Amino acid sequence: MDLNKILYKDDFSAEEIEYLLSLSNIDEVEQLRLRAYEVMKQYCGEYVSARGLVEFSNYCVNDCYYCGIRKSNQTVSRYLLSKDDILKAAHRIVEYGYGSMVLQSGDRNDKEFIDFVVDIVKEIKSQTRSEQLPEGLGVTLCVGEQTLETYKKFYEAGAHRYLLRIETTNPELFKQIHPKEQTLESRKHALSLIKQAGFQVGTGVMIAIPGQTLRDLANDILFFKHYDIDMLGMGPYLTTTNTPMEKFADACQKNHDYTLRLALNMISVSRIVLKDVNIASTTALQAMDDEGREKGLLHGANVIMPQMTPMYVRKEYQLYDGKPCLEDSVEHCSNCIKFRVISTGREIAMNDWGDSKHFTKNHKHA
Ligand code: 5AD
Repeated sequence: MDLNKILYKDDFSAEEIEYLLSLSNIDEVEQLRLRAYEVMKQYCGEYVSARGLVEFSNYCVNDCYYCGIRKSNQTVSRYLLSKDDILKAAHRIVEYGYGSMVLQSGDRNDKEFIDFVVDIVKEIKSQTRSEQLPEGLGVTLCVGEQTLETYKKFYEAGAHRYLLRIETTNPELFKQIHPKEQTLESRKHALSLIKQAGFQVGTGVMIAIPGQTLRDLANDILFFKHYDIDMLGMGPYLTTTNTPMEKFADACQKNHDYTLRLALNMISVSRIVLKDVNIASTTALQAMDDEGREKGLLHGANVIMPQMTPMYVRKEYQLYDGKPCLEDSVEHCSNCIKFRVISTGREIAMNDWGDSKHFTKNHKHA
């Protein structure tokens, strides 16, 4: 295949995407990265958008085989932050000038939880209006599969972006890493409901799941395109102790360098194929490499999520082993992120929601 020609295309076949993902030669990888950076600059600009991340609860009704907070993991102590603590975190995020926050938790569908989320979103929105943020902090939710009615309630409360990772679009692989109660079909359906409720829709996959092929990842990117996704968060699959997939730990360790390369290629290729979507440089990248998040930004990502979860619960939100920043204060994380971004020659956009250009372009006349 002719790399130079493919990099400048608008429409890509699964074969072409797979070829781009497979690049490992240092010069070719650099060509891929530079093209991704150029596309990012053209469609999203060079500013990095920040979202303060608050992991407000680790209760979960699901039992995903890869995840550290799956319901069967009895070694985790479960928590739900108080509304006060969440509001404090929201005010901090405003002070740091981030403009946006992500409220993330394990999955729960009970009324008490849903009402809690609705209340806290309303409270955050009403308490964070200011001259710089006339409509308050931007709120992104990441609280799992819900009904349309619930998604609408969340949207009406004031949240306007929603993240729900598909994890993998290969049906066989999806089955291998989830209990049978969780299905790919219902995950896809939930994504369409999120869109129907009015949200900017974010999804993503884990990269280098044991058994996953390059063709699977190529199909994942085509799925993002087909589903008209606005935002992406992707990171390497990392082993977690006390989960059924712990048995792959040695193999994962052996593939460390390959996995990191593939995760960065996945960011670049998604950027080149999807162009104007928001792409996050995720914490899981930094778990693999101390400079993983900087590398993600240099490979075409335009969003970063500073850790704003109060320290005293952070250790209980370990989705995977080696999660960084567990011991660092919120102040430290904020400074650290700032310097990490600056080290890539870019800056964080202050007091800005940083909405997906893909979404705003499509809804200009709405
Ligand atoms: N490795 C990498 N990512 C993980 N997640 C959960 N467990 C792991 C793991 N072991 C990711 C999932 C989920 C997100 C919140 O965290 O993709 O959607």
